[in-house]
Amino acid sequence: MAVREILKMGDSRLLRTAEPVQSFGTPELYGLIADMLETMAAARGAGLAAPQIGVNLQVVIFGSDLPNPRYPEAPLVPRTVLINPRITVVGSEQEEGWEGCLSVPGLRGRVPRWQTIGYQGFDAEGRAIDRVVEGFHARVVQHECDHLIGRLYPTRMRDLSAFGFTEVLFPQLLGADDD
Ligand code: NI
Repeated sequence: MAVREILKMGDSRLLRTAEPVQSFGTPELYGLIADMLETMAAARGAGLAAPQIGVNLQVVIFGSDLPNPRYPEAPLVPRTVLINPRITVVGSEQEEGWEGCLSVPGLRGRVPRWQTIGYQGFDAEGRAIDRVVEGFHARVVQHECDHLIGRLYPTRMRDLSAFGFTEVLFPQLLGADDD
C-alpha cells in the first residue's frame, strides 16, 4: 500500500475515458483499491477516482464511517468501492451544491447535479451494487463518476461567479482543510 500522487487539473490524464475493469478479486485490483483508500484518507477526501492517481480504470471510492473535516455539514455516505459504474437519473430535479476536488486543490465551486440517481456497478469481488440515492450521496457519486469520463467539476458549473478559494469562501474550514 502507498499514498499515491494525485494528478492536478491541467494534466491530460484527467481528461481520458477510463477503461472497464475486466477481472475482479485480483491482487492487482486489491492493490489499486488499497492505494486509493490510503491516498484518499491522507488527503481527507470525500471520494477518489482511479484516473486521479493516473490509473485509467473505472474504479471509484467514496464515503467514510466518520464525518469528513473537509465537509463537516455533509451527511455520512457509506464507504463504498464502486467499479464499472452506471448512473441513471431518477426524476428531473437538479440542485446546486458546493464541491471541491483533490485534483483542483484549494478551490470550491457550486455545481448543479441531479437530485436523485440510481447507480449500478460492482464491488472488488464482482458482487453487484444497485442503489437509489439522493442529495449529497448522489452528488458524490456523480462527481466521482465524472472523473471516469474525463470531466472535472468546473466544466459542470453554470455560474463561474460561484467559484473561488476555499479559504475565502469557507474561512471556518481553515485548519480542517489542507487542500
Ligand atoms: Ni474530484
